Amino acid sequence: MKQNNWIPRKDSPGKRAVLLTGGAGFIGSHTYVALKQAGYEVIIVDNFSNALEDTPERLQQLTGSKVICYADDLLDRSAIRRIFDNHPIDAVIHFAAKKSVAESTTAPLVYYENNVSGLIGLLEEMRRASVFNLVFSSSATVYGSPETLPVRENAALSSTNPYGFTKLVCENVLSDLQKFDPRWNVGILRYFNPVGAHSSGLIGESTTGIPDNLMPYIAKVATGELPFLRVFGADYDTLDGTGVRDYIHVMDLAEGHVLSLEELLDGAGSHIVNLGTGRGYSVLEMLKSYETACGRTLPYQVMPRRPGDVGEVVADPANANALLGFEAKRDLDHMSKTSWNWMLQRMD
Ligand SMILES: NC(=O)c1ccc[n+]([C@@H]2O[C@H](COP(=O)([O-])OP(=O)(O)OC[C@H]3O[C@@H](n4cnc5c(N)ncnc54)[C@H](O)[C@@H]3O)[C@@H](O)[C@H]2O)c1
Repeated sequence: MKQNNWIPRKDSPGKRAVLLTGGAGFIGSHTYVALKQAGYEVIIVDNFSNALEDTPERLQQLTGSKVICYADDLLDRSAIRRIFDNHPIDAVIHFAAKKSVAESTTAPLVYYENNVSGLIGLLEEMRRASVFNLVFSSSATVYGSPETLPVRENAALSSTNPYGFTKLVCENVLSDLQKFDPRWNVGILRYFNPVGAHSSGLIGESTTGIPDNLMPYIAKVATGELPFLRVFGADYDTLDGTGVRDYIHVMDLAEGHVLSLEELLDGAGSHIVNLGTGRGYSVLEMLKSYETACGRTLPYQVMPRRPGDVGEVVADPANANALLGFEAKRDLDHMSKTSWNWMLQRMD
């Protein structure tokens, strides 16, 4: 097994510059912090369609240095071109995308345009600027309903909704690009379920309306914004009958991006890896852990299973460990505690 070889390159003379698209969002903002800790120059571009306006200020407070952030849309090619013209960029980490499965079923064209056209425009501008290193945010959703657990990267790929299809199309675009133009180095990271927040409570996930994902939903029950948790199915073949998923702390995920980037910049080539913990938790275990974090019992109601849902999805993270030295270090209690801390800060 490869050891974690992530050595911060603080203040090294040859600081490398990374462009984060969607860098003001949930995963992007945490990755910003991890990259700054590792000594990188970081430039953010984000249209703030799903980010809090004060995120750059908070990142400044957290890292103690000025934040370079362009409030531009990825679909605005001339704006993106200007960023490449203004900064000598070594690599791009591409987070910017719309991510709601539910919304994607009502507005598929918006999803294809933003997520697929957004990637293609970005790739064109990267090629124009001779930047060929890209880390791409993919998702466990590309595995559809996996037949074998834990899920390995060579499992069959499929999707049941437009959001998932945009990730599959983007992965295909990137795979063709590498196949026909060897200058490209691409790290495709398939995230399982990122949760939690930075321990400072300064950054976290911004969720407006009814969240798609479990922990943000529980968090809103804890703040009283939602009356109770809906548990979809309690008759699965799992320890307590509720669905089991692989949750990963967002700072572990962020550090995985630094490792992926270093692999590309070190010339080790392209990779596709799962970023998960390899350990699953049920809906009721998640609820219990959050109850401990917020100090009270949270109401829930069992509902019928949702069509298309499966009992359990857990990653096999062995590839990420072997190739990148990646290992998730933060446990479930830390996930719940940091999420709740973030919710409390936002309520102040
Ligand atoms: N959070 C998850 O559960 C999860 C799981 C798997 C994969 N992902 C993927 O990870 C990436 C980041 O997810 P996140 O949870 O941080 O989401 P997020 O919504 O918090 O962050 C995405 C950011 O991109 C920005 N953005 C969207 N479209 C843009 C555009 N056209 N131009 C410029 N900025 C744009 C948004 O304002 C937002 O700040 C996405 O690609 C998402 O599909 C997320």
